[in-house]
Amino acid sequence: MTQEWILVLGAGSDMARAAARRFARAGYNIQQASRNTEELDIEARHLQLKYGVQTQTLPFDALEFDSHAAFYAELEPKPIGILLAFGALGEQARDQKDVSWIRKIIDTNYTGAASILEVIAADFERRKRGFIVGTSSVAGDRGRQSNYIYGSAKAGLSTYLAGLRHRLHGSGVNVLTVKPGFVATKMTTGLDLPDKLTAGPQEAGERIYRAVQKEKHLVYIRPIWRWIMLIIIHMPEFIFKRTKL
Ligand SMILES: NC(=O)c1ccc[n+]([C@@H]2O[C@H](COP(=O)([O-])OP(=O)(O)OC[C@H]3O[C@@H](n4cnc5c(N)ncnc54)[C@H](OP(=O)(O)O)[C@@H]3O)[C@@H](O)[C@H]2O)c1
Repeated sequence: MTQEWILVLGAGSDMARAAARRFARAGYNIQQASRNTEELDIEARHLQLKYGVQTQTLPFDALEFDSHAAFYAELEPKPIGILLAFGALGEQARDQKDVSWIRKIIDTNYTGAASILEVIAADFERRKRGFIVGTSSVAGDRGRQSNYIYGSAKAGLSTYLAGLRHRLHGSGVNVLTVKPGFVATKMTTGLDLPDKLTAGPQEAGERIYRAVQKEKHLVYIRPIWRWIMLIIIHMPEFIFKRTKL
C-alpha cells in the first residue's frame, strides 16, 4: 500500500470516477475535486470502505481561473499524480450561434485545463516527480461539422499536453494524453453510439491506470480508435467534406 495521493480534477466524471477507483484499488489515496462536492462525498465513503484508502473532497471549478493557484497551494499533501477529466461537450448547433457558449466550451476544455496544469506542472517540475493525465478527445484530431467547437478546444488541449510532455520530460514527469473514443458516460447519454466502438467507464479506468503504470504518452480506450483516426486524418479533404461525420 502506497501513501501517495492522486488528485482528480472533475472527479464527478464517470470515467474519472472509474479511474480513481482503480487507483484506490492499487492503494493510492484520492483527492476528489469538482463543482458538486456532495456527490463526491458519497463516492469518498465508497473509496474508504471498499479500498481502505484516505480521501479528500475539494471544491474546484475549471472556469474560476483566478482560484487555481490558491487551490493548489492549499492542497495538502501534494499529490504524486493528476487525473484531469473535466470537460464539456456542448451542442454544436446551439454553440455556433452564441459566442458565450463558444467561450464556455473553449474555457472549460482548454483554458481551465491549461490554467490549473501550469500551476501543478511547476510543482512537479521542482519536485522532479509525478505524472499528469489529461483527457482530450479524438474530436481534436480533425474538425468535423458535428462538433468542431468542442473539437477545436480539445485540439488545443492535445497540443498543450504534447508541449507539457516535452517540457517535463527532463524532470522525470510523464504526461499522458487520453483520447477516449466513445465511452458510455453522462456526457454521451442519449447519443446513438455503436457498441463495438464504445467502452464502459470501468474499461476506461483500467486502460488509464495501465497506461500510467507503463508511462505511455497517448492512450485510446479502445485500441481500434487509433486506426479509425488514422483513416479520418488522412482522408483527402475533397472526400472528407462530402461526408456527414
Ligand atoms: N465520454 C466520451 O465518449 C468522451 C469522448 C472523448 C472525450 N471525453 C472527455 O473525457 C472527459 C471525461 O468525460 P466523461 O465522459 O466522463 O463525462 P462526464 O461524466 O459528463 O464528466 C464530465 C465532468 O466534467 C465536469 N465539469 C464540467 N465543467 C466543469 C467545470 N467548469 N469545473 C469543474 N468540473 C467541470 C463535470 O462536472 P459536474 O458533475 O459538476 O457537471 C463532469 O463531472 C471529458 O474531458 C470529456 O470531454 C469523453
